Amino acid sequence: MRCNTGPGNDMHAISGMIIAGIAGYLSSDKPKHVGRTDEDQSADRGPMRAVVCTAYGPPDVLQLKNVAKPFPKNDEVLVRIRATTVSAADCELRSFDFAPWIWLPIRLAFGISRPRQPVLGQELAGDIESVGKDVTSLNEGDRVFVATGIGLGGYAEYICMREDPRTGAIATMPASLSYEEAAAVPYGGGEALEFLRKANVQSGQRVLINGAGGSFGTFAVQLAKAAGAHVTAVDSAQKLEMLRTIGADRVVDYGQEDFTDSPESYDVIFDVVRNTPSGRMVRSLKDNGCLLMANPGFLQIVRAKWASRRSKKRVTFAASGGTNEDLAYLRSLVEAGKLSPVIDRRFPLEQIVEAHRYADSGEKLGNIVITVA
Ligand SMILES: NC(=O)c1ccc[n+]([C@@H]2O[C@H](COP(=O)([O-])OP(=O)(O)OC[C@H]3O[C@@H](n4cnc5c(N)ncnc54)[C@H](OP(=O)(O)O)[C@@H]3O)[C@@H](O)[C@H]2O)c1
Repeated sequence: MRCNTGPGNDMHAISGMIIAGIAGYLSSDKPKHVGRTDEDQSADRGPMRAVVCTAYGPPDVLQLKNVAKPFPKNDEVLVRIRATTVSAADCELRSFDFAPWIWLPIRLAFGISRPRQPVLGQELAGDIESVGKDVTSLNEGDRVFVATGIGLGGYAEYICMREDPRTGAIATMPASLSYEEAAAVPYGGGEALEFLRKANVQSGQRVLINGAGGSFGTFAVQLAKAAGAHVTAVDSAQKLEMLRTIGADRVVDYGQEDFTDSPESYDVIFDVVRNTPSGRMVRSLKDNGCLLMANPGFLQIVRAKWASRRSKKRVTFAASGGTNEDLAYLRSLVEAGKLSPVIDRRFPLEQIVEAHRYADSGEKLGNIVITVA
């Protein structure tokens, strides 16, 4: 498979994601799979603990509160959450740290003064406590891992998920992993899988991951290795040893070396951070190479498209999140010993503020896990 994004497809993908986000959040069909806040807790099914994002801002805006426990509809399961994570995307949403060109659409989609969906957390692992009557593929007692998508909701004791979510994914988790390990797979693993699929990495190809030491990057290194590629991993000096242990063939300290200065060229460059000029990255591609950008600014996209305009090189920058089948595929790789989540620190739910402070520091190796129960 070739890099399958033609010019314009990425624009459609990004604007589609934004429009889907706005439509999803503003319409009556928006994801409602987490508990309501204490204002409307008077009703029914008793409380659960959840971390509520009370405003956009520093980690202190996160507060542990009692909210109403959700109840599954006919096509949903109720998951008792055992572990979740703090991802870069959770921190970006909490602090509302978005590029100017997508600032307004995302603000409209997620809430003007504070997140309309106040419970963050994009991935989790837990047990299915009850199932709706129309659910056929999941059972009470199943140990599952979940990508919540834009519905979020991981920072809580319970979540309802559709059997076939419109955003996000759910599947039985790898038997060999603990809840804490499994919780770290769906988001970073799913997004890395989707990006690398767009480039169709082949055995023997040379792949460079820029920002390899974080959530996307640690999965991308292992997925590219599983595909048989030669992998160069770029990150800060303190992350390079870990990157070697998960399979990187070559490591580059970005503080010492700019990989775009080297004559080396790559079939695929997966850029997780936005600190390297995109035109230079395009020039570091082989003739049919593919640049994947997870976190680009508008000018970076324009420059990359411009630099690639008279070549067979391809540039893509959008992923829409994984599916249930993607989670099942990731599970098979874990069980085959080809994929293993990199876990840095673990924090209890009560220490979510400290966990976000640590994530904001940029020091994390791979993933930060939150133990819920
Ligand atoms: N495009 C899409 O469709 C899409 C979808 C979902 C998410 N995203 C975005 O994609 C990003 C995912 O990142 P993640 O979760 O993997 O983040 P992460 O866990 O924070 O990892 C980022 C890594 O990059 C390293 N880094 C920082 N500056 C660098 C530089 N100049 N050169 C090389 N490496 C550098 C960091 O290490 P140090 O801090 O030690 O430098 C860190 O190890 C987020 O911004 C998220 O919002 C995009």
